[in-house]
This record gives sequence, C-alpha cells and structure tokens, in this order.
Amino acid sequence: MAESNIKQPSSILIIGVTGRLGYELAAASLQASHPTFCLVRPSSLSDKDKAHKVQVLSDSGAVIIEGSLHDEESLFEAVKQVNVVICAVNSKQVLDQKPLISAIKKAGCIERFIPSEFGLDPDITDISGMDQGFYSRKSEIRRLVEAEGIPHTYVSCNFFMSYLLPSLVQPGLKAPPRDKVSIFGDGNVKGMFVGYPYSIVHFLFCITSGGGSCDSFTYKLVNLSHVLSLNNQNG
Ligand SMILES: NC(=O)c1ccc[n+]([C@@H]2O[C@H](COP(=O)([O-])OP(=O)(O)OC[C@H]3O[C@@H](n4cnc5c(N)ncnc54)[C@H](OP(=O)(O)O)[C@@H]3O)[C@@H](O)[C@H]2O)c1
Repeated sequence: MAESNIKQPSSILIIGVTGRLGYELAAASLQASHPTFCLVRPSSLSDKDKAHKVQVLSDSGAVIIEGSLHDEESLFEAVKQVNVVICAVNSKQVLDQKPLISAIKKAGCIERFIPSEFGLDPDITDISGMDQGFYSRKSEIRRLVEAEGIPHTYVSCNFFMSYLLPSLVQPGLKAPPRDKVSIFGDGNVKGMFVGYPYSIVHFLFCITSGGGSCDSFTYKLVNLSHVLSLNNQNG
C-alpha cells in the first residue's frame, strides 16, 4: 500500500490551560483537531472558574491529565504521549519548566517544544535590571533547552492582551487619558495591532501544524499618531 502523504495532526500537551493564554491555546488546538492533552494541577480543580475552563476543554475532547511541573512522574507520563509541548505558565513560574525540560529529554519523542515566553525577545530586551529577572529567567530556560538539544520554537510576540491599545500606549493606564497623551519618540514608529487571542494563537498553530503557511494572517501596521487621530475622530 502506498504511504500516505497526509501529515497527521500533532498531538499536543499544553501546560497552563487554567490560565489566560494557556486556555486560548488549548481551545485553538482542539479547534484545529489536534489531539490535545492538558496537564492540570489538582489544586486548580477546586477553584470554580478554573474547574469550569477544564470542563469546557474536556467536553471539547481534551484529555485532562492531573499533574504538576513539580511532579516529575506525572510530567513524564504526560510528555511521552505527545510530540509537541507548549508551556504557558506565568512569567514568575518560568524556571519551574526545568523538570519539564528533563522530562522532554528523557522521553525523546518531542519534535517541538514551545516554552513559556510570548512577549518581548528576552535575549535582546534590556530594561536596566528593573524587571526583577522577568527576561533573564526566560533566557535561562532558552539556554537550557539549547544545551539539551531539544527541538524548539521561541514565540516572541511583543505585547498582547490589551496592554497598549486601550490606553493609547500610556504606561499604567487601562483607559485612554482624557486630558493629555504622551507620544514616545516622534510618534511615527509603526506597530502591528491585531485581535487577541486570534493573532498569537492563530500564528502558533500555523507553525505547529507542520510548517503550514500563515498567509491568512492579516494585520494592519499603524503608528501612534494614526491611533491618536482615530481616537480623536471617535470623540
Ligand atoms: N506579551 C504579553 O503581552 C503577555 C501578556 C500576558 C502573558 N504573557 C506571557 O504568557 C505566558 C502565560 O501567562 P498567563 O498570564 O497566561 O499566565 P497565567 O494566567 O498566570 O496562567 C498560568 C498557568 O500556569 C499554571 N501553572 C502554574 N504553575 C504550575 C505548575 N507547577 N504545574 C502546572 N501548571 C502550573 C497555572 O495553573 P493553576 O491553575 O494550577 O495555578 C495556570 O494555568 C507567560 O510567559 C507570560 O509572560 C505575555
């Protein structure tokens, strides 16, 4: 019988599905028909909102595995069932991925590991030590992944989750200021504004699905001056 050229969808383990990004990743993985496994800490099932998220994913076909990044046995059992691992733990828990890297190395079946990054590129971001190790922790994980020879993709997608646009790029604000707007530089640096969670998650699944094209990924490049003029037009 001729060998099929149809690539099987990757089976994906996602860690952090009760969180903000991880939940969207798991939902998108299921929507893209990937066999989807979710590692969930038993403690999060006693939280009503988190338990609801897990139930929704389970009802949609996800396999829920109880475990933790601190429980090497559960990690290894989860990792050996898949060929892609995506981790979306919070930036404070980034170093907790070390046992996961050991489990991936031991299992030997992982074709792509996507560690928890999803922000500015930690290797080139320098904010003069004011970030309490936010970026250096992510770089430390990169070096470990590389030292262990694990196939990987780093997703550096800058800011998302409504960090910039709703406040007209004013640090610390959650709504547009009414009196004064600070323009950084000359206001002509262009940025890409796309809808969350569509942008990050859609792009990630383009690459996870075996090098598929991301041609359908549409976006608009605008600068801050343009954003302000749109805001003024809309009152
Ligand atoms: N670029 C941007 O604008 C931007 C914005 C937000 C986030 N991010 C990045 O996206 C990534 C995810 O952040 P997030 O805000 O989505 O995180 P989050 O909402 O805080 O979720 C963290 C998840 O990790 C799980 N977790 C924590 N410790 C664990 C452990 N030991 N074992 C298993 N699971 C564990 C949590 O589960 P429990 O329910 O058990 O606690 C939760 O599901 C981070 O790297 C962050 O820096 C980027």
